[in-house]
Order: sequence, then structure tokens, then C-alpha cells
Amino acid sequence: MKKIKVNLDKRVSSSYEIYIGYDILDRIGLIIAKNLPARHYVVVSDSIVAPLYGQPLLSRLRGMGLSVDMVDFPAGERSKNISTTLAIVERLLELGADRSSALLALGGGVVGDMTGFIASTFMRSVPYINIPTTFMSQVDSSIGGKTAIDLREGKNLLGTFYQPRGVLIDVKFLDTLPETEFYNGLAEVIKYGIIEDVELFRFLEKNVNDIKGRDYGILVKVIESSCRIKKGIVEIDERDNGLRRILNFGHTIGHALEAESAYTISHGVAVSLGMTAAVRVSEKLYDFPGEERNRIETLMEIVGLPCRIPQEVRTDGILSRLKMDKKKEGNVIHFVLLKKMGMPFVNGGVPESVLRETLEGLRK
Ligand code: GLY
Repeated sequence: MKKIKVNLDKRVSSSYEIYIGYDILDRIGLIIAKNLPARHYVVVSDSIVAPLYGQPLLSRLRGMGLSVDMVDFPAGERSKNISTTLAIVERLLELGADRSSALLALGGGVVGDMTGFIASTFMRSVPYINIPTTFMSQVDSSIGGKTAIDLREGKNLLGTFYQPRGVLIDVKFLDTLPETEFYNGLAEVIKYGIIEDVELFRFLEKNVNDIKGRDYGILVKVIESSCRIKKGIVEIDERDNGLRRILNFGHTIGHALEAESAYTISHGVAVSLGMTAAVRVSEKLYDFPGEERNRIETLMEIVGLPCRIPQEVRTDGILSRLKMDKKKEGNVIHFVLLKKMGMPFVNGGVPESVLRETLEGLRK
């Protein structure tokens, strides 16, 4: 089992460890009991993950003499709202949870974001551990302490920075992960390769078939590299005031595409299209090397992430969504662009004509 420490400024948050392995459920109980001793634990999960992995986790923890309950809610982004949050909190109270309780988030990004949010506010905060079960949450959202729920006006508008006490990654959870979810994670891994680690990018190029075949040894390596990159960025900029913004590479256009397609384009596909667009803008404005653009687009094609925007998603619609983006400050939309691979920067605004030409160019 691999162990990676996230070192945080102790005036702000406590440091914690990320554990990564294959088929480590038996050891997860020991890690929880050691890193987060509590009178009472509540596993928070969703309607897909709870039936698969909830009982096995519960019985291991109970087998160690720990007091554990489980709460679950309907799976999906649509549940990440204030009414589900209140329903979970009421259930916690019914179960006798108090300040001596701890939460265990067992699921993907929605479960992690919402459980973290509840943990940061329930009884003025209780500790929690993330046990991410999707590829995307294992390489990205479970690390770094961003918690949130969605409001009618937009995604993640109500949230906190609240670090977990640990992140426990069992790669075996990916055995049952649907294809679309797998690609959501893969897009984030490719992102890390492009913005931060050319070695990782090379590793992905070389091992693409084993990754697609979900070879667990290769996946453990990919997840470990991704977690090291993410934790390194979070250590420098826990509160998202600077460097952490580079993690938005591909996401500005990606979110606009997702929304403009009425979420018929998955997050992974949208991010991969967003990254392709950002690379092309970088080539037009900052001389990003054409051969590196080719490598990126070739890898996306081989893994099965498209580089072409579907005709029915209109350029005007994408552009007006970009103007509404929450990361916009004043009238300027901040894009993460690249001078070359491994050298990202936040650009102070891309002319609309360049964006339009780039988006149109991705239809051919
Ligand atoms: N997923 C972006 C971040 O954690 O900052």
C-alpha cells in the first residue's frame, strides 16, 4: 500500500495521509481507527455505492468493535442540494450523532463534496475521512478539502474549505465503475500530465491499453502520480488563491460545453474538449508547440476522448455561457493556458474572436 502525506500549514488545517492500494478494505478499518478515533461513525454513501460497498465496509468496522451506522441518498448530481443535505443532517441527529461522531464519505465526487460540507458545519464541525470510489474522486476531488453543494443558481455555490483526516483509495472499487465515469477520471489524469508532469504524460502514452483495460498495477501508479501532483498544488495553495487555479485547465470551456449540451456531454468528454480548445488557443496566442498539440490530441483520440465538438452544441451558446462563468472576474474570463507542456499560466483574457475561431476549428 502506498502512503502520501499532504503537508498543510498547521495554523490553517491539519496534515493528513492518502493511502492507495488494491483490495485494501480489510486494512481500511485499522487506518480509520488509528487516524480518526471516534465514539461513533456514520458512513455517508449513495444509492449506487451503498449496496455494493456499504455493507462490506460496515461489517469490517463493526467486526473491530466500532459503533457504525450508514446513511445513503439517491445517487447523482441532482442530489447535491440543500434538501438532501438537511435530510442527511436530520438522519444524523436521529442516529444520535454528536461532536464525538465522525463521518466516512464512501462514494464519488457528489458524496465527498456533500459529506465534507456537512462535516464542516454539523455541530460546528466534526471530522471526516474520504473513501473515494470513482476514478475522478480518487485522482482529484477527494484531495484538497473543497466541499460544496449546488444551488439553483449554479454548481458548488455553497461550500467550505475543510480538509479530511485521511483519504483511503481502494483501486478495486474501479472494477465496478461504469465506462463514462472511468473516462471522467482519465480526463483529469491527462490534465495532470499536460499541466505538470511530462513523465506522467509519457507513461499514459506508453500504457494506454493497460489503462483502458483497467490493469490495477498500472492504475495504482497513475493514481499515485496524480495524487502527488494534486497534493503538491494544494500544499502551496490550499485556499485556491493562486496556483490551484491551474487545476481548472480545460474546465472553463468544459463547463460551458457541458451546460450548453444540457449535460448530454459527460464531464470527462467536456474537459477533454476544453483542454483541446485551451491548447489550440495557447498555440495561436503563445506559440505552444504544434508537435506537442499533436501528441495531446493523438493521446485523447487513442484513449477514446473526442477532440471534436458535436454540431448540435452551438458556438454562440458556449460563448454566452463562458461570459456567465463564475470564475469570471469583472468582464474578464480567466483561462488556464500553456507556454508548453508542464508550463501552465492563468491568462488575463482571451479575445472572443480567438475563442470563436478555435471552437469552430474543433468542428472540422
Ligand atoms: N478540482 C479542483 C481543485 O480541487 O482545486
